[in-house]
Amino acid sequence: MGFFDEPQTYSPPEGRVEGIAKVTGKGKYSAEYQAAGMCYAVLVVSTVAAGVLNRVDLDTALMAPGVIEVLSYFKKPPVPGFADDNKIKETRFGLPVFYTDKIYFKGQPIALVIAESWEEAVYAATLIKAQYTVDKAVLDFDTAHAAVALKPAGKERGSMDAWGTQAATVEAEYTIAAEVHNPMEMHATIAEWLPDGKLKLYDKSQGVNNVQRVLSKVLGIGTDKIEVVSEFVGGGFGSGLRVWPHTLAAVMAAQQVKRPVKLVLTRQQMFSLVGYRPASWQKVKLAADNTGLFTGLLHQARHSTSVYENFNEGITRISRLVYRLGNLKTEAATVPLNLSTPTWMRGPGDCSGDFAIESAIDELCHQLQLDPVAVRLKNLSVDKDPDSGKPWSTNFLNECIEQGAAKIQWANRKPQPGQLTDGDWKTGYGMAVGLWNAGRGSASAGIVMQKDGSITVQTAMTDIGTGTGTAMLNMAHDHTGISHSKIKIELGNSTLPPAPSQGGSTGLSTISGAVNEVCKTLKTKLAEYAAKQNEAYKNALAVNILLSDTGIALETAGSHFITYADLFEKNKLETLEVEASSAPGDERQKYAFCSSAAHFCQLKVNTKTGKVKLLKMVCVVDGGKIVNEKPAANQISGAVVGGIGMALMEEQHVDPRVGGLIADDLAGYHFAVNADAPMIEVAFINKPDVNSNPSGAKGLGEVGIIGTAAAIANAIFNATGKRIRSLPITPDKLLG
Ligand code: MOS
Repeated sequence: MGFFDEPQTYSPPEGRVEGIAKVTGKGKYSAEYQAAGMCYAVLVVSTVAAGVLNRVDLDTALMAPGVIEVLSYFKKPPVPGFADDNKIKETRFGLPVFYTDKIYFKGQPIALVIAESWEEAVYAATLIKAQYTVDKAVLDFDTAHAAVALKPAGKERGSMDAWGTQAATVEAEYTIAAEVHNPMEMHATIAEWLPDGKLKLYDKSQGVNNVQRVLSKVLGIGTDKIEVVSEFVGGGFGSGLRVWPHTLAAVMAAQQVKRPVKLVLTRQQMFSLVGYRPASWQKVKLAADNTGLFTGLLHQARHSTSVYENFNEGITRISRLVYRLGNLKTEAATVPLNLSTPTWMRGPGDCSGDFAIESAIDELCHQLQLDPVAVRLKNLSVDKDPDSGKPWSTNFLNECIEQGAAKIQWANRKPQPGQLTDGDWKTGYGMAVGLWNAGRGSASAGIVMQKDGSITVQTAMTDIGTGTGTAMLNMAHDHTGISHSKIKIELGNSTLPPAPSQGGSTGLSTISGAVNEVCKTLKTKLAEYAAKQNEAYKNALAVNILLSDTGIALETAGSHFITYADLFEKNKLETLEVEASSAPGDERQKYAFCSSAAHFCQLKVNTKTGKVKLLKMVCVVDGGKIVNEKPAANQISGAVVGGIGMALMEEQHVDPRVGGLIADDLAGYHFAVNADAPMIEVAFINKPDVNSNPSGAKGLGEVGIIGTAAAIANAIFNATGKRIRSLPITPDKLLG
């Protein structure tokens, strides 16, 4: 028996709870709200990558039609958190927007034009001229990284001397281009200072309570004075896990002009103002004996960061978790560049590290003439986390691999590359695995019940498209017995019961505990009222209380059914409101937790054009209990599509000659679209982890992408014999 009961099978609702609102346009995204007297703000950004801002000429802009005000370093409202350098550090906000005259990157906000209409603000922004003292900028990651010393990243295991001469050793370098989240919905903020001194924000974000907390520090006001709404989120992929300069700029503008202000980033600004996956370099030295048993791994990594803030995503973390590896050394460093600060993006850190390790394993298997499936199965550490030594609560990565191999028909793969040809096309198969910490946070949830027995389940957590709300509906139905059609879900508002940001594949794991608790609380609260009418309900346990669409009963003999209508009337209740929280406990001391996945790929490569055509992707996931298979599979196939982009096309282009980004739009930045995606077969092991949380789920999003790129690169090698160690694998690399 685990820490929690074995969950029942959840019966899913018909579709997504937010589906109709999203497709009909009824659901509002942050930029779509209105406020009385609202004006519009447009950012003006630096045209140089490094230096000092000396002057901003505003005169022409201020005379332009509709312009209300222009903010810049030289004129801005007070921001208490930025009062001095020490305070700025304490806020951990990142870029002290308009509070520094230093220019750190091209695209850095230097002014904000506020006008009556968006068009007028856009026009006036073109009239602003700035003067800079220009410094030399460091922009080229490939040349800059070599000069940065590596430092230990985690404790060394065993000894590096123990594995010098082995049957096979792979020593290779891998690089990954920076990638940009590019969610469909633009980052946008509407800021309004209310007459009572409170700040109300509509802000595109993955965590409304996080926005509250960060702004509270920066503005020096209590979190109770800040309300943040992010009810519908059009994708995030990590870009909404921080509070970025434009949000604060909108708040400052609203303060300055004493009116609500709307600020929507342009697509181009989305490339430099809301983070990206950093560019990375890795070196792997991996050795094995002639049976394919790994005897040692040295994993070194560097990735880019900005010059004004250190972001470290932990690229070598994953090489410490998947395989037993008695001899292991991991080293890492960050490389400051004159670009904005990168941030978490789709499987951050692990996704990059995994590409190098899982490619190197494929290279090793080729040297040893051993099967990559068999070699992985031989080396996996599915019983315990090799780093902490704690037992994994559950880890079915071996089963993921076995099922995936069957689904892709791995037996059809030829061990020697280039054997399956059809005219100019060569077919290949590849595989890789991924793993991600299955975390759980503390959260609260509330239920509001109406007389007619309908309930609204509430939490501040956002749903960025993962299906959190839909899963909450499943769980609420399962725990209460009330029909799906009588349950509503409310999310993404800081006035609702608090919850962490949605990220790191922790959403469902975190909120399931709170939903479970609040359903129990609802039952016992109803029983308390019922006890006034009927003694049998006195001190009834939640487990013995039955709810239906119309009333409450007891599982014990006699049933003692009472309608909600009767109960509400006798107790003079308009609505019944309950709230409960849940947090991880001792189980996290005893066990380590992970989700995992095996990725398989079948593709063909055109030897004349270098085009890669994916034929089939398979992703088999151990995410614990699957609460609702449809959105769960959606989430995984979406993540795989992200992995296809990472493998074959996504690249943030930095041109040191122009001092920054080029091709920073959706014409210049390619990600995988429907035509690039093959049949993606998703399957789940679907075994509950009874120590993870009451739902038995472990978390899904990240493992859908961790491993995808290596599976594709390995399949390309199997097809062509070309080992490409640099992402994205564009046709030029295959023809070169
Ligand atoms: Mo994410 S990088 O878990 O939004």
